[in-house]
Order: sequence, then structure tokens, then C-alpha cells
Amino acid sequence: MAGKLMQAVWYTCYGEGSAGLKHVEIPIPVPGNGEVLLKIEAASINPIDWKIQDGLARPILPRKFPFIPVGDVAGEVVEVGPGVKNFKAGDKIVSTLGGGGLAEYAITKESSTVPRPPEVSAADGASLVIAGCTALHCLTVTGGLKLEKTQPRTNILVTAASGGVGHYAVQLAKLGNTHVTATCGARNIEFVKSLGADEVLDYKTPEGATLKSPSGQKYDIVVHCTTGIPWSTFEPNLTQTGKVIDITPSGGALWTYAVNKLTFSKKQLQPLLVIPKAEQIDCLVKLVKEGKLKTVIDSRYPLNRAKEGWAKSIEGHATGKVVIEP
Ligand SMILES: NC(=O)c1ccc[n+]([C@@H]2O[C@H](COP(=O)([O-])OP(=O)(O)OC[C@H]3O[C@@H](n4cnc5c(N)ncnc54)[C@H](OP(=O)(O)O)[C@@H]3O)[C@@H](O)[C@H]2O)c1
Repeated sequence: MAGKLMQAVWYTCYGEGSAGLKHVEIPIPVPGNGEVLLKIEAASINPIDWKIQDGLARPILPRKFPFIPVGDVAGEVVEVGPGVKNFKAGDKIVSTLGGGGLAEYAITKESSTVPRPPEVSAADGASLVIAGCTALHCLTVTGGLKLEKTQPRTNILVTAASGGVGHYAVQLAKLGNTHVTATCGARNIEFVKSLGADEVLDYKTPEGATLKSPSGQKYDIVVHCTTGIPWSTFEPNLTQTGKVIDITPSGGALWTYAVNKLTFSKKQLQPLLVIPKAEQIDCLVKLVKEGKLKTVIDSRYPLNRAKEGWAKSIEGHATGKVVIEP
């Protein structure tokens, strides 16, 4: 593929939102040692993608401009670099990149890549990466939940259960011995119940804003996928050792985390940043293959309409995942 050109979408500075995305034609990259050249069939946008464009990780990310954003991809291997052992041209895969996903082709590391069986579509696979790994990590690593019904019952609250992370968190939680309460907007209540939630609160109602379980459960684990809810709202709804896992921690959340540690509080607020790992992606792909987990796609856009997908994610009202299909 050396010397051939591909379509890609990049931005050249911080800020500017979807208007900052530019369509360009650039050379197809060449895989180096341990790398794979992938023809992208689907890429999934996450809030972190446009937050990086906004300057959240400035000056560390992006490492340089212009930058092709998006790291969650699925597609087909077209070429492998020296030393690649587990993949060959024609293999279908899911992978996590440090950027480069809004393009027809991308380079990825063999170590960040997992096989994708025919039962898992490219769009479903790409969607799993950040959102699915975050939900899985919150529940099983930070929360200590087993995805089999061998533990005593765990009561779980998932906030923003209609979003990318939340819709996976509800389904994964229900693989364990759990009671799941979830929050979402009125239009998504039936959808979130269909994912398996035992009870659903409309976050825009006064009752929903209290996070109180309608059936009186106290929460052992909260997978907190939205923002703007103070510790004082969570605290009375937790069990004695309840844990709020905050994946978008504000300064206030970090303060609560520190105070809780210093006062030896058994109730905890745990800030969390998840970097997807190949083993976790593989576990999620297998769950989709087995029919135990599904991806719900809010909207799909071809690469030449990537700006619309970007804007859709920025709006913050997606139900499930936003996918770009080159
Ligand atoms: N720490 C990490 O490693 C990590 C990893 C992934 C994501 N995140 C962060 O986690 C957050 C969620 O990510 P995501 O991909 O799930 O976002 P998303 O898909 O964009 O979430 C959109 C959904 O959230 C719902 N929502 C918004 N505000 C809500 C509220 N107050 N209560 C209940 N539901 C609400 C919206 O419903 P309506 O349309 O009805 O408002 C919409 O369905 C983002 O801030 C993201 O940056 C962190």
C-alpha cells in the first residue's frame, strides 16, 4: 500500500469542535515492527476524543498537530510489519489506537489488537473499546463484581445508563448476582429496562434527582457516568461500605476522595481513568459473540460526514454509541 493515498479527518489546533475537523487526502501509513496496517470498517467516537480536541490533556495530548482523532476501531488487517505473529492479511480485528481512527486506514500495535469473530460486526466491535472496557473495569476491577451469579446479591446504581458506558454497565452488571437501578431521561426508560435494569429513575424528576431506589435498596457500587451530582446526594443512598466510581471526576470529587481517605470513611468515592487493554476488549468481544452483551448504536455516519458524528457526541444526548463507517 506504500505510496497510495487515503481519506482522513484531522484537526490542526485545540478548540473549534466539529468545525475544526478537516477532510484531507494523505499517504497510507506503513506498518513498522510489531505493527499492523488496518483497513478501518468502523470507528467509534467517545467524549474523550472531543475533550482532547478541547484541550483537556493539553499539552500532553495530542502529541502534535495535525492530529487524526479517535482510538476505537474495528476492521480488516491488510498488511503486517516485521515481527507480527498473531495476525495476517484478511483477519478481522478490533483494536485500540492512540489516535488515527478517523481515516480509511490506520496503524495499530499487534499487542493492542484482538481477533473479531464473524458474529461481532465492525460497528459493534469498535464501540466496545473505551466504553465497554470502562464499564467492565468499573464493575469487575474497582467494584469487585463477578460476572457470574456466585456472589451474594450486589446492589448497583448506574447513572446515565442510556449512554455509551452506561448501556454496557447495565448489561454487564446483570451478568452477576445483582439488583440494578439506573438513571436516564424519560425517553430512554423502556430502553434501559430492556437492557436488564430492575428499576429506572428519570434523572429530570425530583425523585430521580435524589437517586433513591424506588424499592429501597442501598447501593454497594455506583457506576457514575454523568456529572454534577454532589457526594451529599450519593452518600445517604450507599451501604456502609458503598463505593461511587466516578469516571468524570471534578475537582469536588477529588476533594471528596481525599477527605474520605483522611477520615477513614468506609463509604468511598473512587475517581477512575481506564486505558483499554487487549484482554478486556477480548473478554467483551467474547461476551458479544456469546449473545451476553450487545452494542446499541445511536447513529452511524460515513467518513465524509464525520463532523456530524462528532457534533452528535458533543451534544451529549446519544442513546448508545456514535459510529463512523469509512
Ligand atoms: N474515566 C474514564 O476512563 C472514562 C471512560 C469513558 C467515558 N468517560 C466519561 O464518562 C462520561 C460518559 O461517557 P459516555 O460515553 O457514556 O457518554 P455519552 O454516551 O455521550 O452519554 C450520553 C447519555 O448520557 C445521558 N445523560 C446525560 N446527563 C445525564 C444525567 N444527568 N443523568 C442521567 N443520564 C444523563 C444522556 O441522556 P439524555 O439525552 O436523556 O440527557 C445520553 O443518553 C463522559 O464524561 C466521558 O468523558 C470516562
